[in-house]
Amino acid sequence: MRAVRQHAYDQPLVVEEVAQPSVGAGESLVTIAYGSVNPLDVWIANGAVAAAGPLPRTPGCEGVGTTADGARVAFRGAGLGIVRDGSWAEQVAVPNAALALIPDGCSDAQAAALGIPGVTAFDCLEAAEVGAGSTVLILGASGGVSTIAMQLARAHGARVIAQTSSVNRVGQVSRYADEVVVAAADGLEAEVREIAPDGVDVILDPLAGPFSAPCIRLLAAKGTLVLYGASAGKEFCFGPQEMYRKNARLIGYSGLPVDPEATARSMEALFALVAAGTLEAVIAAELALDDANEAVDRITGNRAGGKLLLKP
Ligand SMILES: NC(=O)c1ccc[n+]([C@@H]2O[C@H](COP(=O)([O-])OP(=O)(O)OC[C@H]3O[C@@H](n4cnc5c(N)ncnc54)[C@H](OP(=O)(O)O)[C@@H]3O)[C@@H](O)[C@H]2O)c1
Repeated sequence: MRAVRQHAYDQPLVVEEVAQPSVGAGESLVTIAYGSVNPLDVWIANGAVAAAGPLPRTPGCEGVGTTADGARVAFRGAGLGIVRDGSWAEQVAVPNAALALIPDGCSDAQAAALGIPGVTAFDCLEAAEVGAGSTVLILGASGGVSTIAMQLARAHGARVIAQTSSVNRVGQVSRYADEVVVAAADGLEAEVREIAPDGVDVILDPLAGPFSAPCIRLLAAKGTLVLYGASAGKEFCFGPQEMYRKNARLIGYSGLPVDPEATARSMEALFALVAAGTLEAVIAAELALDDANEAVDRITGNRAGGKLLLKP
């Protein structure tokens, strides 16, 4: 079968013929419909995450496909694409505990866009206790996680303010937000204060770097900043008084340690929302396995504009 393979961290990914995956006890062979592309795959591909993982290996921490008995399934986590071969291939062996069933009414492409982004959005909103009346600022609003987070926050009755750095993505983002600000880090605070003079209750921040200090200043009393990514930078400085004088909270979130079985149930809950017509992911492009390096480049250069999927 064909698979994308990573042989080293300083070389492009290659597509080659490899043996069919061996399937262990408690695992299923999944014939892939889509291998999802997440920033996590990019961090793994450049050695920033899981550099100790075995090489060569097949990337892809998330995907959807069909089991031998014909069930349509989605999966993420369980070490796939990190310490064992992942989804950027024609087939993959997946631990049964990580399999989520896809219902009628939810397409393979939608399901492939919801595992890592959807569960992250769901968990971050829950950690911040977003509810009716909350004002929520969502950074990097055109991103996979943010697109889902905006819809879920609104379903909770929150007011959603979306930040995008890309003026040409305002139309896409506006579908899911009450207000949109187009701002780089240095203009963020002023732009948001124009529409929320007293600040915001919750901020979902996948960017960090220069974005996080203005976010902390923007928190209202007892506000919560959820940091779950570092797309714009790994470090930032802020005045501690800007947090403690407001009784504000800074929460970190990582989906890596989350139990695969619990994650699979969360994914099924998200797929049900898609089937009911109340949630949608934005698919930016379906690419071939041979385009894996292009997919990595689009995410690295912030040129994705929605979810990228690899179709074997
Ligand atoms: N902790 C976890 O468990 C977890 C889970 C999933 C994702 N993440 C992290 O969360 C981040 C977002 O993931 P995703 O899947 O939503 O990614 P994505 O689909 O690639 O979207 C990221 C969005 O962030 C904005 N952005 C990206 N690079 C930027 C930069 N240098 N400066 C300013 N804005 C930038 C862009 O939005 P605009 O063009 O609209 O500004 C982009 O669409 C990534 O860092 C990822 O690693 C963490």
